[in-house]
Order: sequence, then C-alpha cells, then structure tokens
Amino acid sequence: MYFEQMQKKVERLKGKKDIVVLGIESSCDETSIAVVKNGREVLSNVISSQIDIHKRFGGVVPEVASRNHVMAIPNVLDQAVLEAGIKISDIDAIAVTYGAGLIGALMVGVCFAKSLAYALEIPLMAVSHIHGHMCANFITYNDLVPPFVGLIVSGGHTAIVEVKDYINFKVLGSTLDDAVGECLDKVARVLGLEYPGGPKIDKLGKQGNPTIKFSKDSLKNSYDSSFSGLKTATINFIHNLNQKNKTIPINDICASLEKEAFIPLINKTIRACKDLGYNKICVAGGVSANSFLRENLKSQAQKSGIEVFFPDMKLCTDNAAMIASQGYFNLLNDVGLSDINLDAVSNIAL
Ligand code: KG4
Ligand code: ZN
Repeated sequence: MYFEQMQKKVERLKGKKDIVVLGIESSCDETSIAVVKNGREVLSNVISSQIDIHKRFGGVVPEVASRNHVMAIPNVLDQAVLEAGIKISDIDAIAVTYGAGLIGALMVGVCFAKSLAYALEIPLMAVSHIHGHMCANFITYNDLVPPFVGLIVSGGHTAIVEVKDYINFKVLGSTLDDAVGECLDKVARVLGLEYPGGPKIDKLGKQGNPTIKFSKDSLKNSYDSSFSGLKTATINFIHNLNQKNKTIPINDICASLEKEAFIPLINKTIRACKDLGYNKICVAGGVSANSFLRENLKSQAQKSGIEVFFPDMKLCTDNAAMIASQGYFNLLNDVGLSDINLDAVSNIAL
C-alpha cells in the first residue's frame, strides 16, 4: 500500500518543474548529505570525513566507521538543509547509497534514509555507489549527456564501461583482482605514507622519474586489468631494498607505479572508445583525482579526437551530491524506488 502511494508520488514528481533530492552517502569513511536540484544543481554538499580517525590504523576500520557515521549523520543533515537554504518540507525525494561498500557503514545511511523518507512521506530511491560516481560528471558538466565510455577507478572498483544512458552501464572490462586505488593505498602503506595513500603517491610521483619496471601487463589485448601482481612486485622491490639497507627511491617508485598502473588503463579505455565508435570518455571514482591519470588520458585521447571529462576535484571522492543526482535520474527512469524493506548490500554488480 505504502509502496503504491510512493509510486503515485513519483509519477506526480515527474511533472514538477523542479525536483529537489536529498542524497545520503555512508559507504566507507565519509558521512555526506547533499541537496541537489534537477540532478545537476548542487544546493549543498556536506562531507564529514573520518580520515583523521582511521589514519592511525593505516586504513578504514569498518566498525569504527559505522559508529562514527551514527554520531555524525544528524548534524550533517542539519548542515546540509541549512546550507541549501531550504525547508525540510521542500525535499521531494531521498536518495541513499545502498551498496557497494562496508556493510555496517552502509546500514547507517540506509536506516537513516528510510526513517527520513517514511517520516516525510516522500519516495526513497536506492542508489548504487558506482553509478553515483559517474553522476559527478553530470554535475560538473551541465551539457554532458550519455552515451559514452566510462572509466571507473576507485578504492573498491576498476572497470571500463559503456555508459548507455543515465541508469545503465555495460561492463566492457574490469579488474580481475584488486582495484587500482587499493593497489596504490597498499603500496603507500609499505612506503610509510599516511592513509589514504593515493593522493600522497600522486604528489611524490610528480617529483620522481618512472625508471623502475615492476611487472608487465599480461592482459594487453583485453579490456580487463589486474593490479595485484603490480602491487606485490612493487612491495617486494621495497622489501628487497630494505633488507639490503639501501635507500628507497620513494619518488621514483611512486612515479613508476603510477605509470605501470595507469598507462594500460588509459590505452584500454581509448581503445574501447574507438571500438565502440564514441568520442567521449568520462572518468569516475576517487582515483579520478590523480594528476598523472588526468594529464595522460587527456593528452593521449586528444590524439584520437576523443574528449575526456573528469569530475570537479571536490566531487571525485565520496560525496552525497553524486548520490542525489543518481537518485534523480533513477526517479525519472522508474529505477530503485524502495520502501522500509530496503537493505544495505556490500557487493552489487555494475
Ligand atoms: O571513490 P573513493 O572515494 O572511495 C571508494 O569508493 O573506494 O576512492 C578512494 C580511493 C582511494 O584508494 C584513494 O587513495 C584514491 O581514491 N585517491 C587517489 C587520489 N585521490 C584519492 N588516488 C590517486 N591519486 C589521487 N589524487
Ligand atoms: Zn567511492
């Protein structure tokens, strides 16, 4: 009964001039709530990061993350509504990340979203975190429309996809083991760099030369990729120098690791774009903030007449604006309407 009522509300919303969606994101170590109008106009995007809490453990501790989401989320909501300059009754729908991510962390956002949607009697839209990441591009570039080829690079995912429309991805290739962000973070940890290691590798790599060869891409002719061999080879290289009491050329290691991780991804994404006959590539996920990837993908793609889009830097890593945006597109396309039975899911297919 309740679900049917919400279906009717969705139909009415589709005829409304402006649709205001409140997005909730808590899949990892960022508690974020945002208010977005018509999928692209960000009215507020509050992000409460737990990086300082998890730093001392060298990575995210799931149970600690869940508890900190519980503590942060009410204040993040108040701030998001205040900064948006709206009343809570102006919100038309709630969008929430229901997966993929840390199960306990996701549950906090999902429970909060369900309660809020139920109390306000407005539709609740379930959003896939990875689909949400792609929306960071729709927010950054107002005129950007699918279809195009997408490169997803985060701490948990690495995939080349065909973005067919606002709600459908076709996976062309993905990592067979680790995600590229995980590879960078693990190597950074061995180098003694603080969590999250990706941004530190980015910074140090700029001061180094990519002179070290760690491994070779055995999946050259595929759209798939693999990062665990590269991760292990790089870590072994560091351990070896340590055992011999030799100086660790940290900047060169970072530069070489970036080159070996990103050049194959760049080549494969451009090849996929050409094979499918598109002229646009959009990158999504936390690792899209990486400057080596940004510069090299742009310059390589340009040679083939392909335009490359990266999200605004503050929208690359986890945030709720991208979730609200995906919630809006889900609503318009009759995808993800949920009720009080919505569950968090740690792993969902792209
Ligand atoms: O999308 P995200 O915030 O969380 C997940 O959904 O996984 O991505 C986090 C990942 C981490 O691995 C982090 O080290 C990486 O993004 N990252 C970077 C940079 N900024 C964040 N990696 C390389 N260079 C960066 N500048
Ligand atoms: Zn993410």
